[in-house]
Amino acid sequence: MSSLIETDISAYLKAHSEKDMLRFITCGSVDDGKSTLIGRLLYDSKMILEDQLATLERDSKKIGTQGQGIDFALLVDGLAAEREQGITIDVAYRFFSTDKRKFIVADTPGHEQYTRNMATGASTADLAVLMIDARKGILTQTKRHSFIVGLLGIKNIILVINKMDLVEYDQEIFDRIDQEYREFASDLGFDEIVSIPMSALAGDNILENSDNTPWYSGPTLMEHLETVEITSAHNEKPFRLPVQWVNRPNLDFRGFSGTIASGSITIGDEIISLPSAKTSTVKSIVGTKDEKQTAETGEAITLCLTDEIDVSRGDIIAKANDRPEVTDQFQAHIIWMHDDHMLSGRPYLIKTTNKTVDGVITDLRHKVNVNSLEHESAKTLSLNEVGLVNIKLSQQIAFDAYNDNKAMGSFIIIDKFTNTTIACGMINFGLRRARNVHWQAVDVDKKSRAKQKHQQPKVLWFTGLSGSGKSTIANLVEKKLHAMGNHTYLLDGDNVRHGLNKDLGFTDADRVENIRRIGEVAHLMVDSGLIVLTAFISPFRAERQMVREMMGEGEFIEVFVDTPLEVCEARDIKGLYKKARAGELKNFTGIDSPYEQPETAEIHVNTVDNTADEAAEFIVERLGL
Ligand code: ADX
Repeated sequence: MSSLIETDISAYLKAHSEKDMLRFITCGSVDDGKSTLIGRLLYDSKMILEDQLATLERDSKKIGTQGQGIDFALLVDGLAAEREQGITIDVAYRFFSTDKRKFIVADTPGHEQYTRNMATGASTADLAVLMIDARKGILTQTKRHSFIVGLLGIKNIILVINKMDLVEYDQEIFDRIDQEYREFASDLGFDEIVSIPMSALAGDNILENSDNTPWYSGPTLMEHLETVEITSAHNEKPFRLPVQWVNRPNLDFRGFSGTIASGSITIGDEIISLPSAKTSTVKSIVGTKDEKQTAETGEAITLCLTDEIDVSRGDIIAKANDRPEVTDQFQAHIIWMHDDHMLSGRPYLIKTTNKTVDGVITDLRHKVNVNSLEHESAKTLSLNEVGLVNIKLSQQIAFDAYNDNKAMGSFIIIDKFTNTTIACGMINFGLRRARNVHWQAVDVDKKSRAKQKHQQPKVLWFTGLSGSGKSTIANLVEKKLHAMGNHTYLLDGDNVRHGLNKDLGFTDADRVENIRRIGEVAHLMVDSGLIVLTAFISPFRAERQMVREMMGEGEFIEVFVDTPLEVCEARDIKGLYKKARAGELKNFTGIDSPYEQPETAEIHVNTVDNTADEAAEFIVERLGL
């Protein structure tokens, strides 16, 4: 086809734009010959520009791993730093095309510490090419790579058994590896595994069948890439339109816009909008250029309906007879992608196809050892670890299981404060809540209880380092409020840890749970009409924010007792700083466990410039009761 470029450029461009696209990922380690293979595919498909070729020839001679020949790996290991170290570090996407298809290949590094990079590359791929060194056979990393691509829903595998030239093109070796791999992979959910004997360096079975492997009758790598049918084709899947925005330019027009995540839609189809479950019929479909009878996956459209139903941004429109599930709790696999480890109970943002909601990981069911594929019990996940978790959301979402529909079953987890992505996930199924547990509506409510006490219920949330003076000041404030006739209750860290929370220690996870419980208790007490005072270090911003969000407008008053660490440590009333410094007490706040200062506390005091009594007086004044 490339000759068309010279003779008939418009015919070339037309043919090119009509070709379909295969996305694949290559997995293997530095020495498996992965870069050499990709380099060869790019080179042979003439996707290398003249000047790149000149550089390649020059570098090949200079670096000289292939004598005077071309070292194809240099083409791929593009970054200078990587070349020097001889490894590939990030996900690199490369494009090439042949007469039959266009390709995007994601090239990811193979080491365990790059699992997240691999997951990123695999998330958009239809097929995985796994490289195996014929001399070494199936290694731990082959298993790890297979597990990750399986987890990300890739169904088609090409097992490249490379370096056959170094084992004299021995069929027995090839057959043995092929057999062993099929046995290993039987549980990973692949639809098709094709093994190809190859020498990426010599070019065997890449583009042409090699004379060196007369016993092999299967396809060459290129032949298979060009013809493989991708089982996950989106158009056969049910129709899903994540609504990006409600388009209402004037009173006469109201449409719902978005890009079709899967399936197709035709005028006259009955639809349902979720989670509201309102139904209607498609009146018209507006495409990017004109009105359409029908539209398919990937098209940006605006749907107009025959009825005025309430549809909002973040909803999913589906066909009424083939709808996604709706839930606020689900089970999922997640891959942790951040240096900060996972915390059960911490509020995170969960972003699905077009909706971002609050959510918590309620339960880490197990961690998967990515090398042995064994399930291990664990309390947390660290960078690059994979776990099976239960997640609870603050609102309902519409979803499909990831295995049925990648777009509708995937999500990312975002840190609420830094806005960084900290994990990606794949939904397995929704968890049904016990439907027979209802919220019991009661007749005597918060308002009437508060009125009887002649006060506005609220919580004064004291936070600060150990020894900062929280308990002392909170105690004085309570005395003053009590004397003024208010109904109060003080929850103090040391006391609560003797009762309700006596099962908790001082790991990050336990502190999160400590604050979650105190938050719930304070919430009930506020509901009963009390003015609640709490004195806990509560070192993490995320959990203080979580409690703030539990309370009504104006009910959460954060009091930052801002006594510097040096002062707290010098006082060392309980002698704990000394122990912590001596290494006898682990995870001590301010020493080897962090304290995240409030940024916008309602009230700010310290016990350096003022006495505890002055601080308490100041707080009572600020409350203006
Ligand atoms: S929090 O971090 O979970 O909010 P909380 O306020 O309940 O802590 O408890 C803090 C009190 O526990 C401290 O004042 C101190 O007396 C005691 N303590 C014991 N071990 C630790 C520790 N490792 N870190 C902080 N406080 C500790």
